[in-house]
This record gives sequence, structure tokens and C-alpha cells, in this order.
Amino acid sequence: MHITVIGTGYVGLVAGAGLADFGMHVICIDKDESKIEALEQGEIPFYEPGLKELVERNVKNGRLTFGTELAPAVKQSLVIFIAVGTPSDGQGGVDLTFVKAVAEELAETVDEYKVVVTKSTVPVGTNRWIQEIINKNTPAEINVDVVSNPEFLREGAAVEDFMRPNRVVLGSESQQALAIVKDIYRPLYLIETPFVVTGLETAEMIKYASNAFLATKISFINEIANLCEAVGADVHQVAKAMGLDRRIGPKFLHPGPGFGGSCFPKDTEALARLGRDYDSPMQIVETVISVNEAQKMRMVDKIESLAGDLKSKRIAILGLSFKPNTSDVRESPAITIVGELLARGAHVAAYDPAAEDEFKRIFSTEQIDYRPNAYEAAEGSDAVVVVTEWNEFRNLDLGRIKQSVKQPVLIDLRNIYDPRRMKELGFDYTSVGRPLSALKQC
Ligand code: UDX
Repeated sequence: MHITVIGTGYVGLVAGAGLADFGMHVICIDKDESKIEALEQGEIPFYEPGLKELVERNVKNGRLTFGTELAPAVKQSLVIFIAVGTPSDGQGGVDLTFVKAVAEELAETVDEYKVVVTKSTVPVGTNRWIQEIINKNTPAEINVDVVSNPEFLREGAAVEDFMRPNRVVLGSESQQALAIVKDIYRPLYLIETPFVVTGLETAEMIKYASNAFLATKISFINEIANLCEAVGADVHQVAKAMGLDRRIGPKFLHPGPGFGGSCFPKDTEALARLGRDYDSPMQIVETVISVNEAQKMRMVDKIESLAGDLKSKRIAILGLSFKPNTSDVRESPAITIVGELLARGAHVAAYDPAAEDEFKRIFSTEQIDYRPNAYEAAEGSDAVVVVTEWNEFRNLDLGRIKQSVKQPVLIDLRNIYDPRRMKELGFDYTSVGRPLSALKQC
């Protein structure tokens, strides 16, 4: 089967390469010529473990190609995946300009039956709107069916999530289109992946409800962590015992500086907005958003409480991406934290194994002293702050760090170190939700 994937961003490229690996003939289309040229040279425009190998393998076996022209690709494809960006419109809504442009272009191009599959995250109602745009602009005798197929890919684990998903959600009103898309995903039947087949709006809602629920778990545990600090309890033990209740589950109960990334902040905003638009308030989600904002700011107060008045203090930031194993800094808590540190008069030195270039688009080299490794970032600092839990920060030579800093203050916003050991090493140490008084009890 021949497939076109429109958009070679993070979702489109993983889906395109993954579908080629499932045995499909895939052409990935992007308007950005330089991006397509780079992909043809085997260069992946972002860091994602395993993706380079997946792309290389499928380019080599001839099943994955790239191009900039939509029409010829669509002509030879039965199925077209839309995986273009749906950025925030800056007012809590979603900017659907790219989706609309693709739907219109598709409508002008198709000359026989096609299935259009939407992978981009779009507000509830968008797939029906896409269907209407296409119906309105194609000759009456040509039939096109739309399928909503939301993605649940985690950055840093996207290839694994595509190849071994927890579930595949397909929303459509056409049995024929559903049968065709199910056929594409046939390799997943062999590993007994559950398929949830629904209507269009339900499929769209599943994506938002899932992400908002995960974000809720994070904001919930962050608030519990803050309360743990006040009452002298250990949030890790609280989360562990909560997670042993199978109705709650252990995942996404790790406290930290707040959630970031390209999905949770945008999707919670969009769901809250949808609730307002339909006069069906999403009060929990609204609160999750404000708790998350407060958590990021709270981290700066935490830094100040240990480092002292931040004016002219040198603060070393370890980790800039919103989570490890990605160069993505979109909505990263590091952005808020660094911005506030600078606003309070601190000097910031920073190191990240992959996200430095991306972060430089937000804070220039004049604003931040970017260093080539954690040790050089820490040198001469008044406080070292772990913002992202990259593996390489778990095994730092803390003795070496202690010798090079101005004062031995370590603020661990991801709880990767043992508070007792840090105390033994002579650090003035704090983490999130683990006051020393709670640890003394056990
Ligand atoms: C998420 C969803 O997991 C994925 O299904 C969806 O399709 C896209 O959004 P992603 O944004 O890549 O994926 O990252 P994820 O691993 O879910 O983490 C999101 C944020 O939450 C990160 O900033 C992470 O640090 C934070 N987080 C996660 C916590 O603070 N605590 C946790 O327990 C889990």
C-alpha cells in the first residue's frame, strides 16, 4: 500500500518511518525544501533515540522517500496522513492554519477515492470540519473519508511508542476507511495491541482527556509534594504507596518543577478553552494549568531560599530540555526558571547534553553563560540546580563539584539524589517534597 505523510515534524517523521517499517510504501512531504534535502542526506532535524536508524533502514530498503510536492504523492497514495503542526494560537486555542491549507490542497488534488487520516492533535470537531472542506471542494463523484487517529507518542520514546503502542484509537464514520487503516496497522494485531474504534469527536476527545488526566496526576503530586515539605512527610513514599493501589497506578506521580513539552501545556489549555466555548467548564483542568505555573515559580523561591538574595549570584542550571533524551525545550520549566532568575538579578550558567542550541533561540549567549559540561557550569556558582533528569547527572562526581563551587548548595528539582548522602557530602541540599525531617523518621 502507498501512503503519503504530510509534515515531517516529530509526529510525521516517526509515523512515516514507522509505517514504512510496517511494510508500507511511504512518501513524507514537507514544504520546507531544506528540511527535505537534509532528510534525503540522512539528517534528522531533531534528537529522537532510534529514529535515525529507523529512517536509514527504510530509505535503504526503498520503502521510505521524501518530497516537497503534494500532488504527485497523493496521486499514487490510497491513504494520506496529516501530521502538520497545530501550534497554540496564543489565546488558549489551537492555530489550524496548516491543517486548513492541507485540507484545501488535498481537496483540489484528489481524483479518486482516498482516506485522509488526521494524526495532528486537533480540537474536537476538527475532523468533521476537514471532511466538510474536502467535500465542498471536490467533485461530487469523488469520495474521500476522514479518520481521526490521534498520536500518543512520548518524546524520547516515540519510536517505541509507535511500534508498541498501549492502544490505537481510530475514529471514523466510514467502515471502508476503518478497514483500510486497520490493515495498515495489521502488524500491531500480532502483538495484541487493543484497537478502540469510535466516532470522530470521541477519538478527538480521547486524546485530550488522556493528556489532561496525565497532567492532572502531575499537578496533583506536585501539590502533595509541596504540602509534604510543610508537614514533614516524604512524597516519594506517599506516591509509592498510592501507586500500589491498582485503581491509582504508579505512573506520572513523580514530583518536579512542573510539566512542559509540546503536548501537555497546549492540550490542557485547548481543553479548558473547549469547555469555556461549550459552556461546560473544565474546572479541574483550569486548576491543573495554574498549579503548574505556580510550581515553576515556586522552584525559583526554593533556589533563593538556599542560595540567598539572587542579586549577582551565579546559578548553575543543569538541564534545559523539558525532559531527558530530547533537544526539545518547548514550554520547558527551565525557560520560566531561568527567566525569573535573570529578572531577580542572578547570573546564569547552563549546561544541557542536547538542548543548548534550542535554548539559545530563547536566551542568547549574552544572557546565559553556556558551558560544555556540568562541571564547568558548576564552577564558581552559588547554587547548582538540576532542572532536567538527564542520566549523566545521576552519576556526577559530586566531590569535584563541591570543590569548584563558591558555596555547596545543590537544588535537585527532579529528586535524583539521596538527601542523606548529600548531607554527608556536606551539601546544603533540597529537593521537591522530601524534607530532611521526614527522612529522619525512617
Ligand atoms: C506526552 C504524552 O505522554 C504523550 O502520550 C502525548 O502524546 C504527548 O505528550 P511528552 O510531552 O513527550 O508526551 O512527555 P512526557 O513523558 O509525558 O512528560 C511530559 C512532562 O511531564 C515533562 O515535562 C515531564 O518532566 C513531566 N512529568 C512527567 C512529571 O513532572 N512527572 C511525571 O511523573 C511524569
